[in-house]
Amino acid sequence: MPDVKRPFDITLLSMFFQHQDMNVLDAIKKRVAVRHYESKPIPEADLKTLAWAAHKAPTGGNTPYRRVLIVNDKETVEMIRKVSPGFLSNAPAVVLIYTDLDVAYKGLGKLGRDTLSMIDAGAAAENVALAALELGLGTCFTKSYSEVGVKEILGIPENYRTEIMLQVGYPAKNAPPPLKAKPGGRITYLNYHGNRWE
Ligand SMILES: Cc1cc2nc3c(=O)[nH]c(=O)nc-3n(C[C@H](O)[C@H](O)[C@H](O)COP(=O)(O)O)c2cc1C
Repeated sequence: MPDVKRPFDITLLSMFFQHQDMNVLDAIKKRVAVRHYESKPIPEADLKTLAWAAHKAPTGGNTPYRRVLIVNDKETVEMIRKVSPGFLSNAPAVVLIYTDLDVAYKGLGKLGRDTLSMIDAGAAAENVALAALELGLGTCFTKSYSEVGVKEILGIPENYRTEIMLQVGYPAKNAPPPLKAKPGGRITYLNYHGNRWE
């Protein structure tokens, strides 16, 4: 074996990844779209943690085009609800993930502006949804809203595109059970398309 110089201490790095408290699979298992919330407000520190989780998602070409806007002002949330047919809950807060299109285009051209930034936003949104569980919060991805309306309400300039919103709050105790996944969506293949892997 050649003596490869590593830029970091591999022992420390493996200890980091073996952190005992980390249980990502549990969080993935628990995550469902929550559409019934308690009215209890969310501490600002926890909302900041959600913003941090969003920003921790990968970014195409390490290009800083992602923006996160947290809304916890009651009246503003209500205004957003009014322009969002897909906002079906009484969530007390919203996390909006959006893109500075100029930064995306300057850094990565059309691909960055039209595709990568949207993929990133999905990754950021799922980070928010999983981090929320650790804080006792539920979320619901929301894309059915008026882009023009939401931008107007939040004062977002022309050269930005909203990607996805998450409704956020403490799940109501007596909420109806979450919807079951429709059959036909969970298909995995092994090595080549068509080779079903059950
Ligand atoms: C891109 C995207 C957009 C969505 N938009 C909405 C929406 O506008 N309103 C809503 O109630 N749910 C929305 N959802 C949530 C889906 O309906 C939900 O994830 C799906 O029914 C599966 O249920 P589960 O999340 O509980 O597994 C959206 C999900 C995704 C990924």
